[in-house]
Amino acid sequence: MVTGVMNIEEGASLPAKNTFQVFMCSIIAAVGGLMFGYDIGISGGVTSMDTFLIKFFHHVYEKKHRVHENNYCKFDDQLLQLFTSSLYLAGIFASLAASYLSRRFGRKPIIMSASAFFLCGAILNFFAQELGMLISGRILLGCGIGFGNQTVPLFISEIAPARIRGGLNLMFQFLITIGILAASYVNFLTSTVKDGWRFSLGGAAVPALILLIGSFFIHETPASLIERGKDEEGKRVLRKIRGLEDIELEFNEIKRATEISNKVKSPFKELFTKSENRPPLVCGTLLQFFQQFTGINVVMFYAPVLFQTMGSGNNASLISTVVTNGVNAVATIIAVVMVDRLGRKFFLVEGATQMTATQISIGALLLKHLHLIGPITSRSVPLIVLILICIYVSGFAWSWGPLGWLVPSEIYPLEVRNAGYFCAVAMNMVCTFVIGQFFLSALCRFRSALFFFFAVMNVIMGLFVIFFLPETKGVPIEDMAEQRWKKHWHWRKYFKQN
Ligand code: BGC
Repeated sequence: MVTGVMNIEEGASLPAKNTFQVFMCSIIAAVGGLMFGYDIGISGGVTSMDTFLIKFFHHVYEKKHRVHENNYCKFDDQLLQLFTSSLYLAGIFASLAASYLSRRFGRKPIIMSASAFFLCGAILNFFAQELGMLISGRILLGCGIGFGNQTVPLFISEIAPARIRGGLNLMFQFLITIGILAASYVNFLTSTVKDGWRFSLGGAAVPALILLIGSFFIHETPASLIERGKDEEGKRVLRKIRGLEDIELEFNEIKRATEISNKVKSPFKELFTKSENRPPLVCGTLLQFFQQFTGINVVMFYAPVLFQTMGSGNNASLISTVVTNGVNAVATIIAVVMVDRLGRKFFLVEGATQMTATQISIGALLLKHLHLIGPITSRSVPLIVLILICIYVSGFAWSWGPLGWLVPSEIYPLEVRNAGYFCAVAMNMVCTFVIGQFFLSALCRFRSALFFFFAVMNVIMGLFVIFFLPETKGVPIEDMAEQRWKKHWHWRKYFKQN
């Protein structure tokens, strides 16, 4: 039985052409990443726009412009942070719902609903008149992101032939970075326009519309069709996406795998109670925890605020953000190209080291130059911080960024893959919420020490990877237990040794 499942993932034994259909479906689905990225990139810029603050957060606006206000506390406001982070709270519940719904109704309708939610949220935010409308819009956006992030990476993995699965999967992260970049550029353009924040927030409708229209053209995945008893349709789609008439081998493999998977009535129970599932559960979930505690979203959400805190003007701080986000996108391409050659662990450890060094340097610079009151007097310090942030972001972009999503999608056995992946997505959302909600308050209270905190976290995660994460490069998913977990010095105790 197990052999049947194994062959699906080996891919080499399964004939497939690299068809236009597969590329099209993967790229369209990856637009889910564009939505996610657009939102990550837009919030920071919007919350630093005066017209936005005047309309919704007048007290923050006043505080920001009080000359003697403590530098580190200018933007500290729970409500302002709730604007950024409410989305992630909604996202957690939405991705849980999506993990059930996509099993029941298929991946395609969930991807469509993701774009519809996101579109409604964007429209509501564009017309927002008061805080309630604004937050409701964010919650709808959160539902879109929860549905999208839970479904898109698994959709791509299911639709892609095994040998190009890794590369196609990283398209998701690449489009996240393009979304962030586009958003920061939009913020830069709208910052000088009257009520520009409306266009920034409403702009989220663009990726949503692309996904909505595109999702009419994608195929439901064969695995999902066959899992729901639609064998003939599953075969038809397989022929199309593999570019072959004879797809019996792959069909039979999927059939066998789904039979095993369908026997598991409660994947979450299986995931939490069976000891063999413990290693991927711990590693996959912790990877997302660590991804957030690299401190990346401090930069993504609050870079404009940080630059302003250092005394840069509104424009300069938005330009700096565009530069940082450009570096993020370009560096991600390096991961796409190299990750199957150099391996996951190499990049994760290298990334953690690079981020540790830059966090320490930024913390030290702020400690020395950014005093409680008054702007930084040295002209070079904001520039040096910008360069350091670029080095930091590139370190994240070729390591914990893409691999935080890729590794959890390739370490679970099929029957608990959806549930396991949900844990990773939920961990991402919870931690993003925590960082979004508390970073500005933490900056106010702990000041530059916060950067040292993230540096310590980066050291811990580097050590975790060295000692606890097995290398997954080139290992067929269903062989993971045999080839990796059972041979690992620590994780092997969770398996009954034969
Ligand atoms: C993370 C986001 C982050 C983004 C930056 C993603 O992988 O999940 O939290 O903002 O990368 O590129």
